Amino acid sequence: MNNITASKKIHSIEDARNLAKKRMPRLMFDFLDGASGDEKLCEINSTALDQIRLEPKVLRNVENRNLKKKFLDIEFDQPFGFSPMGMCNLTWTGADKMLAKESVVNNIPPCVSMASSTSLEDMYELSEGRSWMQLYNFQENFVMELLQRAEQTGYKVAILTVDVPIQFRRAKDNKNGFTVPFKIGPKQMFDFATHPLWSLATLLGGIPKPMNYETSKNGNKFVRSESRGATDWETLKRVRGAWKGKLIIKGVMSPEDALKIKAEGADAIQVSNHGGRQLDSATAAIEALPLIRNALGKEFPLLFDSGIRGGSDIIRALALGADYVMLGRPLMYGIGADGEKGLRKILDIIKDELSTALGLVGLTDINEVTSEIIAKKFIQNMKY
Ligand SMILES: Cc1cc2nc3c(=O)[nH]c(=O)nc-3n(C[C@H](O)[C@H](O)[C@H](O)COP(=O)(O)O)c2cc1C
Repeated sequence: MNNITASKKIHSIEDARNLAKKRMPRLMFDFLDGASGDEKLCEINSTALDQIRLEPKVLRNVENRNLKKKFLDIEFDQPFGFSPMGMCNLTWTGADKMLAKESVVNNIPPCVSMASSTSLEDMYELSEGRSWMQLYNFQENFVMELLQRAEQTGYKVAILTVDVPIQFRRAKDNKNGFTVPFKIGPKQMFDFATHPLWSLATLLGGIPKPMNYETSKNGNKFVRSESRGATDWETLKRVRGAWKGKLIIKGVMSPEDALKIKAEGADAIQVSNHGGRQLDSATAAIEALPLIRNALGKEFPLLFDSGIRGGSDIIRALALGADYVMLGRPLMYGIGADGEKGLRKILDIIKDELSTALGLVGLTDINEVTSEIIAKKFIQNMKY
């Protein structure tokens, strides 16, 4: 495949996924594409979104449409941002930087994973101050160090991800021998040798490292499999106490948890099942969203991710109670297919679909999306 023209072959997210699968070593593609346990939840997330059908409305003059949206008092040009993803540069050398660049072009927030391949300081600069900082409760002294570094750098928003107290088994990663730090044996060498475009680019760009750890003042080391099992409500209290900026709690699927998190002083909640990468038997994230919205009331800020595969999905999530939507794997499929050009193509597809779908449900402003646009018959009969 001539990769110079790969982005020209991207007309859908599925096209990008197929191209990324060809270009990337199996070890790396399965890490980004894979899910936990039987892997069905990743698909169920998108199927459940698909089941929600919208009602077209006609004769409404939808010539001019506005996609600008405020979230946490920040004005963005699109109703979506980039969900945190660790070790992005395994997909393409410089992937984090591409995300930062697109966040500037589109005026949207990129979330810097605790395990990002670029330091939080560099990401903040590259995104011209738009970055949000994501943390897991790995070593708590490191969480506190990163919060301090984020504050000193100028960050205004932090995300605490709470749905990975223990990591669920990922069969493909185990089969492929995906570990961090990496262990490279004959199987992995063969995988790299048969995907020369990726391997050469990665060799030239340098093997990605978890840069927030590499720059740690306390010498903390990233061990992906390390348990975060001791994380509890006291952890949340301590993080809330240490962070003066806006705090988002990510990975919430239960209305009872959501109510408690709100009471603990979080500023927003990200409804998410981690894209089907944690509890494999969980419900589709989109099904949890309206329940959580009902529990919290109309005003509490809610983000949503898991299963978004196009512009209409963003509208569906907004209609079911989200204030803002986050993209995950589709970004990495674009990058994996053709780097910067692939990412731009994915964003163009999503923005085009979003704007068109908005007009076809008879609206001209993304801020007017409510559950009124959902064809009620389908939401009542929703099943996989
Ligand atoms: C390769 C990869 C790495 C991820 N790393 C993180 C991470 O470091 N922190 C985090 O909170 N979520 C992480 N996630 C979860 C995403 O933020 C998001 O919840 C999920 O991808 C949404 O599902 P979708 O990809 O099906 O849209 C990761 C997801 C993927 C695919």
